[in-house]
Amino acid sequence: MKKALYSGSFDPITNGHLDIITRASKMFDKLTVGVIHNPNKTPLFSVEERVEMINKLIVDLPNVKVDNFTGLLADYVNKNKFNAVVRGLRATTDFEYEIQMAQMNAELFSPGIESVFLMTSPQYSFISSSVIKEVVALNGKVDGLVPPIVLEEIKKKYSK
Ligand code: COA
Repeated sequence: MKKALYSGSFDPITNGHLDIITRASKMFDKLTVGVIHNPNKTPLFSVEERVEMINKLIVDLPNVKVDNFTGLLADYVNKNKFNAVVRGLRATTDFEYEIQMAQMNAELFSPGIESVFLMTSPQYSFISSSVIKEVVALNGKVDGLVPPIVLEEIKKKYSK
């Protein structure tokens, strides 16, 4: 049985992330969406809020579950015996960062664990969680770029 991790901040999850989750769920027997608490970022949503939103969005994907972790990605991956770590690549600018991370992780992963890259579908190649938050905060439209429940949660945050 092959199991993979798709990790990220997901602050919040976008349709770009969901696209990667859906496609990766067809490639592996089990997929875990790993929400990281990254101390270098100040998130809009708590880890619990991010996990809750993702849980609502994966109900139709029976082989996908959500978890959260702190610390070194490789420690979490080795401990849980994942076979692969999935990342989405949006543009060439992602590549520089991703290759460095993949090569560093390769040093840290147990033997046989691979980083696997999926090209982001073109309709999502320009989105990031930050750009979505900025546009919503300024009352811009992001229809089709984030799930409606996520849009509602972002609006709630900014109305406070
Ligand atoms: N569609 C849309 N947006 C996407 C996307 C896709 N397919 N893939 C990535 N993004 C966006 C995210 O929304 C995020 O946007 P933001 O920066 O505006 O919030 C951005 O790209 C970065 O993605 P994210 O997955 O959140 O990256 P990250 O830089 O937080 O990395 C980890 C997440 C878990 C891989 C990384 O932080 C990590 O490994 N941390 C653990 C510590 C560690 O082990 N460090 C050593 C690494 S070698």
